[in-house]
Amino acid sequence: MRRPFIAGNWKMNLDHNEASSFIDELSLKFKNKNDIEIAVCPSFTSIRSVAVAAEKEKEKNNHFNIKIGAQNIYFEKSGAFTGEISADMLRALGVEYVIIGHSERRVIFKEDDELINKKIKSALANGLKPILCVGETLEIREKGKAVEFTLNQINSGLDLIDISEIKNITIAYEPIWAIGTGKTATPEDAQQMCSSIRMKIEKLYKKEIAENIIIQYGGSVKPSNISEIMEMPDIDGALVGGASIKSDDFLALINY
Ligand code: 13P
Repeated sequence: MRRPFIAGNWKMNLDHNEASSFIDELSLKFKNKNDIEIAVCPSFTSIRSVAVAAEKEKEKNNHFNIKIGAQNIYFEKSGAFTGEISADMLRALGVEYVIIGHSERRVIFKEDDELINKKIKSALANGLKPILCVGETLEIREKGKAVEFTLNQINSGLDLIDISEIKNITIAYEPIWAIGTGKTATPEDAQQMCSSIRMKIEKLYKKEIAENIIIQYGGSVKPSNISEIMEMPDIDGALVGGASIKSDDFLALINY
């Protein structure tokens, strides 16, 4: 049985005060109706405040269990890499997950598959669980090449990753044309791609691994459409941007 996993990617939103208030607000009305894995991925500058606020709320309410993810790492452990953050530094803050290969990093910051693969390896080697993002542009979809393109990203992202490590990896299928645009892939289209990703994992590893890997959908997920997405058999969760930065919306998402 795969445990559903909903994560909020806050992107470059919520400073440390706002982030801390978010956790306070969330805990006031918190219910984990579906008993799922829940994470928020704040900016680096807000991680410590989120961790402290979440710890405090957990002392009051043992059921308040929100994991923390980061939005990026650099693959080196330490050294002369001005402006970068390592997996070790994040783990020391209580971070458990890290988003790697988000399309905004691929497109705006020119991260290629090779760099993304190095980051995945570094995350795994240093105790963080990567959320590997993949997905096609509208142009690629219109050419009928969406599946081929996305599966190639899976292939390169997981290059030389040992079968024993796969249990710590989540895949997020995020078609670029659906991110922040209000256009969601139809649940059927998202399902089709997530099923192809699962088959690819079976080919690369084995059936049992494919059956257990968590595959999220991301791209304009909101309280009004999450339940139809979560009904799809190969979609195990959501990676949510815009709708994850308001505590009420996030609450509605996790209680889909
Ligand atoms: P939106 O939910 O704002 O479309 O963003 C999706 C996303 O990029 C999550 O990583």
